[in-house]
Amino acid sequence: FTPKTLQGKRILMTAGPTYEAIDPVRGITNLSSGKMGYALAQACRQAGALVTLVSGPTALPRPYGVRFLPVQSAQQMLDTVMAELDMAASTISIDCFIGVAAVADWRPLQVASQKIKKERGLAQDGTILTGADGTSHAGTGTAGAGDTSYAGMGSARTGGTSHTGTAPAGADRPSRTGTVPADTLTLALTQNPDILASVARRPDAPYCVGFAAESEDLLHHATEKRIRKGIPLLVGNLGPATFGQDDNTLLLVDEHGTRTLPAGSKTALARWLAQELGRRLPA
Ligand code: C5P
Repeated sequence: FTPKTLQGKRILMTAGPTYEAIDPVRGITNLSSGKMGYALAQACRQAGALVTLVSGPTALPRPYGVRFLPVQSAQQMLDTVMAELDMAASTISIDCFIGVAAVADWRPLQVASQKIKKERGLAQDGTILTGADGTSHAGTGTAGAGDTSYAGMGSARTGGTSHTGTAPAGADRPSRTGTVPADTLTLALTQNPDILASVARRPDAPYCVGFAAESEDLLHHATEKRIRKGIPLLVGNLGPATFGQDDNTLLLVDEHGTRTLPAGSKTALARWLAQELGRRLPA
């Protein structure tokens, strides 16, 4: 028996990873399984809500009784979410937006129209080039002016094995100059839009809930993230290895402070969260 705490509430959610194409057969994604988001969609529906789930690619069955809108990229996810909110603005408004998706922070600046060839790291149409000499990077030259991140500039690192920016302070950082091994392919990345923050910024923003997975100092990051994104409630995933797992430990962060929930299955936690939402949403 599930109390119908969300009876008649309209809930829009995102879940799963996003997939950012590099070429027609390859892309960048992450290890999000979609389990937490799908469990929450199901739990909200069982609590009486009308749920629309905008989902990146997952291996999970569609939750029963939930309107399901599949997408691939972060941009498609944003467009779909915004279209839903725009549509609701002229009909029945949405009460709550829950961003559970692990949205890719970066996407390739250019998507090659043909499979990138190993021989030269060149797309057939020449859009992405190898870093064979570190100079002629057609794909990277147009990376946003003022872009201060290192993504897409990995080619310039001398003989390094990792371009992820985890090098200790003082170690050689990637730069645009330097030599590049001949077998290097450089991929320029550009930042994806923040879907949750975009929803929260709307004048007609529903009650917004975010999720955060952090590998360290969750309390601090989650508190800061809630404020930066301009949302009333943020749910933190405690522990680094929650992706793909059935169990989770959650931390709730709101304007009053933080509260840790006892560890449980994603299904049990989703049920608890749905009831909590019912208490928080305006009547
Ligand atoms: O900033 P971070 O990715 O850690 O924030 C996580 C929260 O923000 C999640 O709720 C996620 O769904 C949402 N998010 C988003 N669009 C992004 C990045 C994150 O909606 N581009």
